[in-house]
Amino acid sequence: MRVLIVYAHPNKNSFNHAILEKMQQGLQAEGHEVQVKDLYAENFDPVLRASDLESLQLGNIPENIAKEQASLCWAEGLVFIYPLWWFGRPAILKGWFDKVLTNGFAFKFGEEGLTGLLKHRRALALITAGGTEDFFKKNKAEPLVYRPMTDGTLSFCGIEDVNHRIYYDIGGMSDRGRQDVLEEVATMGKDFNEK
Ligand SMILES: Cc1cc2nc3c(=O)[nH]c(=O)nc-3n(C[C@H](O)[C@H](O)[C@H](O)COP(=O)(O)O)c2cc1C
Repeated sequence: MRVLIVYAHPNKNSFNHAILEKMQQGLQAEGHEVQVKDLYAENFDPVLRASDLESLQLGNIPENIAKEQASLCWAEGLVFIYPLWWFGRPAILKGWFDKVLTNGFAFKFGEEGLTGLLKHRRALALITAGGTEDFFKKNKAEPLVYRPMTDGTLSFCGIEDVNHRIYYDIGGMSDRGRQDVLEEVATMGKDFNEK
């Protein structure tokens, strides 16, 4: 499968970066073709400007948005890797969605209601969090971590096979725990094989 990894972390020494490397290696080991979109490295501008919106409303896709949509269209599988920031996606990633998932490209509303237009065969979100699993479970907050991404974005746009994995308490995690996470991530390339 052609798989696009969209990665949103500013620090090359972060645990998220280690996850990115393992995911990329795991996919390649299974024979998948991988492209990485490193939003910070690309210095992606996440702000949807008035001029962008104006063009979109007139049915013209600005060049900066068309370029991102082409990357998305290249892929059959999608992986998103990012830390949880204020119960959400880092602004650079949120802004990527604001810009890329335009009406008429990613979804449309017609007489029969909403239709998602993305044809990707599989999508996976790998999310790290500072809080403990216990905290999120006790506060019934777990769905807040992933549903804006899985339901509110990817399924909304028509992708049927959407999965996520949350890795908690990254700051408090032992070296062994980190190794275990990275070993698990390395196997996830298999999830993109034909079922
Ligand atoms: C701006 C910011 C906001 C954060 N918000 C949350 C949050 O809402 N919930 C949480 O559990 N952790 C939060 N964290 C902690 C990060 O999720 C955590 O440090 C990260 O997942 C660890 O991965 P890393 O070492 O690769 O950065 C936040 C961190 C930053 C810098």
